[in-house]
Parts: sequence; structure tokens; C-alpha cells
Amino acid sequence: MLQLLQDYAAQIGYLVSAALFIFGLKGLGHPRTAVKGNLMGSVGMLLAVVVTLLDRQIIDYRIILGGLVLGSIVGALLATRVQMTSMPQLVALFNGFGGVASVLVAGGSFLEAVGRGQDNLQMNVATAVTALIGGVTFTGSVIAFGKLQEVISGKSITFPGFQFLNVLLFLTCLGVGGAMIGDPGNSLFFWALAGTACLLGILLVTPVGGADMPVVIALLNSYSGLAASATGFVLGNSLLIIAGALVGASGLILTKIMCKAMNRSLGNVLVGGGTATGGAVADADEVYAGKVKASSPDEVAMMLETAQRVVIIPGYGLAVAQAQHVTRDLGNALEARGVTVEYAIHPVAGRMPGHMNVLLAEAEVPYENLKEMDEINPTFEQCDVAIVIGANDVVNPIAREDPTSPIAGMPILNVDKARTVVVIKRSLSPGFAGIPNPLFAADNTVMLFGDGKEAVIGINNALKDSE
Ligand code: TAP
Repeated sequence: MLQLLQDYAAQIGYLVSAALFIFGLKGLGHPRTAVKGNLMGSVGMLLAVVVTLLDRQIIDYRIILGGLVLGSIVGALLATRVQMTSMPQLVALFNGFGGVASVLVAGGSFLEAVGRGQDNLQMNVATAVTALIGGVTFTGSVIAFGKLQEVISGKSITFPGFQFLNVLLFLTCLGVGGAMIGDPGNSLFFWALAGTACLLGILLVTPVGGADMPVVIALLNSYSGLAASATGFVLGNSLLIIAGALVGASGLILTKIMCKAMNRSLGNVLVGGGTATGGAVADADEVYAGKVKASSPDEVAMMLETAQRVVIIPGYGLAVAQAQHVTRDLGNALEARGVTVEYAIHPVAGRMPGHMNVLLAEAEVPYENLKEMDEINPTFEQCDVAIVIGANDVVNPIAREDPTSPIAGMPILNVDKARTVVVIKRSLSPGFAGIPNPLFAADNTVMLFGDGKEAVIGINNALKDSE
């Protein structure tokens, strides 16, 4: 009787957790409700952990405590040490950890159940699915981490017949998985499946060029959720099934958004060697020689004094320079002078989804002033001054004009259509895609060379002096 009551209590706890996850995700969909959404998700997770610890037959709490302490130390170190600009690598690693954890948990439960003769078809199929998806997620994420951390080349690495090899490996996984389900007593099949999936993960991500990494990270995130969901079927844990499915679905939606933002199809990204590295790269000297005009903070301040509408375009360099707070000060100073100020957000500006939104929200830039690419693009012609702070690829008109360019077809912010463009960056170095940007040499562009934060502080001071 007590056991039955405990089971009911646990199921109700899981149900409340699942509801908190779903409402939390809904809250995360809008900046105004995001903090509340995050809190709901965290409370849901805490409840899930507590219910699991009380519900399951724990053999030894000491091991769990040891894992908790170790995991917390590693997590705290990573959270405090890793720079904001290295977040994509960290997210890639977390996805990988999720994948390998699923494989180990599902595999452990499966092998234990087989040993006791208590395995069943659902468990065996779910374990095979977990080994396949989790293995791919693990090694794929490690390769993605290596590319983003520049430990290995960010370029698309392919060789003749790699697609054939991938298909062969996938079929091998299916064959070995089938054998594992048919003969669960032979643990060799489980390890062979996990090993082959790991090899497949490596070969799936190595062909992806660096510029397509955002798509792959989103996809691997989705895979890690699916692996966790499959583990839920192995353990018979309804909450893990729901939570994993939520991660899997949201990861897929993000993958779709990223593909759209870069005008790439998922198949094209995964096959690699497409636009990311395949196109011709113009010579920087040819693009810039004799055409680039350097400016000063005083000169830029003078331009701003007569402007009525200013659009600020943040990019990766704003994150590097940590210039979000001084940029907000600039926006406030201009608004105080009666200027309309807006911020143009490109979906892949920076190095992770929502990177610019997070930075500007941190600096308390009003959400209403943030404009998505589709909304702001038709209005650049009515913009007096566009201030590009540390953005490069996302404002490169080559994407529109040159079909052979490595970023051909990627939708960009049409900054070049503004009356005057001020570009703040330290040099004429290229951005992530490694190509020159004709915007810097355009007639209506002036360059303000320097660190993003220092340059904006310079403009702010010049504006103050002119009051
Ligand atoms: P990028 O094209 O990467 O350009 C950033 C620019 O910032 C560089 O040209 C650099 O020029 C400048 N910069 C660096 N440090 C600076 C500092 N301290 N002060 C001022 N400027 C500084 O950035 P973007 O326009 O934001 O485009 C993002 C690129 O990353 C896209 O190609 C996108 O596909 C890719 N990507 C995006 C993601 C996601 S999900 N957002 C993930 C991975 C890759 P200097 O060195 O001359 O200063």
C-alpha cells in the first residue's frame, strides 16, 4: 500500500515537473517572460531530481553525492572561467556530455537487466536507439568543439567516398542494433553499436565547414534530447521521455531557424563543402586599396548630431569588446537628443543563437528597440547613420551580389543602403567566413578603427563635449 502511494506521489511529482518544463519553455519564448520561464524550468528540474532520488531504489547515496560534488565543481569552474565568446564550444561539449551520459545510463541499465533476465523488447530497442543517437552526439559534439576551439581545422574535411562510408556505417549500426535486440545476452553487440555510432558521429561532422557550425550545434542539441528521451524508455521514466522530447523538438526548430538564417538546407550543411568553403575568395587588397576612409570619434559624433534616425548593428566584435553597456549609453545619449535609435539583429550575428539579444538585454536595452532582420531591412534607406559595431559577415553585401562567394545567398542586414555607415572594428581583418567586405570600401562608409568599447566611449565623450 505504502509502495503504491509512493508511486502515485512520484508520478504526480513528474507530472508537475513536466508542466513546469513546458510553461518554462513557453516563458523563454519572449524576453519579458524569459527570467520567469528560466526559473520555472529550474524549479521543475529540482523537483524532478528530488522525486527521482526519493522514488528510485538507490543502492548507494555516497556515489551520487560524489558525482554531484564533482559535477558541481566542474560546472562552476566552466561557468566562471569560460569567456562569453567561447559559449558555442561549451554548448557543444555539454551536448556531447548529454549524449555519452545517455549511452552509459541506458547501457548500464540494459546490461544489468539482461544479467538478471529482466530485459524486454521495449528496453532493448530503446537501448539500441540510445547507443546510436548518443554515440553520434558524443563524438560529433567533440569534433564540433574542436572546430570551434580551433584545435582542428574549421574547414570542411572530406575525402572521396565519405558519403558512401557514412551510409555504410549507418547501415552497420542498424544491423548491429538488430543483432543486439535479437540476442541481448551478447553484450558485445551493444559496445559494437556504440563504437560504430561514435565513428559515424566523427564522419558526420568533419565535412561541415566552420560557418555552418551554428546549424550543427543546434542539431546535436536536438540529438542529445532524443538520446535522453530514448533513455527514458529504457528506465521507464516518463519525465525523462518528456524532457528529452522537448529538447529534441526545440533543437530541431532551432536547426530550422539557423538553416533559414543562412539560406542553407540541412542536407547541404551535412554533406559539407557547400557554400562554407567552396566559393572563390576575393583579394583583400583589390577590394580595399585606396578606397577605405578612416574616421575619428569626433567626426562620427558630428555626423550623429545631425542624424534623425540611427541604427546600431552589433556583431561578434561587440561581444569580444564587451561593448554592450557603452553602446546602450550611446543609444540613450542619442535618444536624449531626440534621435530615433534602433538595433538591427541578425539571427547568426556573434557565435551563438540569440548572442546579440542576450548581450543587449544584459545592458538593459529596451526590447522594443531591437529589430529583426526582416523588419529592419526595408527601412535602411531611411537611416541617416548606421553604426556597425564588430559585425562583418552579417553586413557583407557580397552575400547578395556574388554567387560564387562562400557566403552567397546568406541573408544579410542591408546596411550599405543607409545614407552613412560607420564601421567600428580594429582592422580590416575578415570575420568568421574569412572573406573581405566591400562595405568597408563603399563611398558612404567610414571606418572607426579601434576596440569596440574604446571607440564607442570615444564617441560618447565627443557627444558630451559638444553639449
Ligand atoms: P564576424 O563576421 O565574425 O566578424 C566579427 C568582427 O569583429 C571581425 O571582423 C573583427 O574585426 C571584429 N572584432 C573582433 N574583436 C573586436 C573588438 N574587440 N572590437 C571591435 N571589433 C572586433 O561577426 P558577425 O558579423 O557577427 O558574423 C557572425 C559570423 O559567425 C557569421 O559568419 C556566422 O555564420 C558565424 N557563426 C555564427 C554563430 C551563431 S549561432 N551566431 C555560430 C558560429 C559561427 P577586427 O579583428 O578587425 O577587429
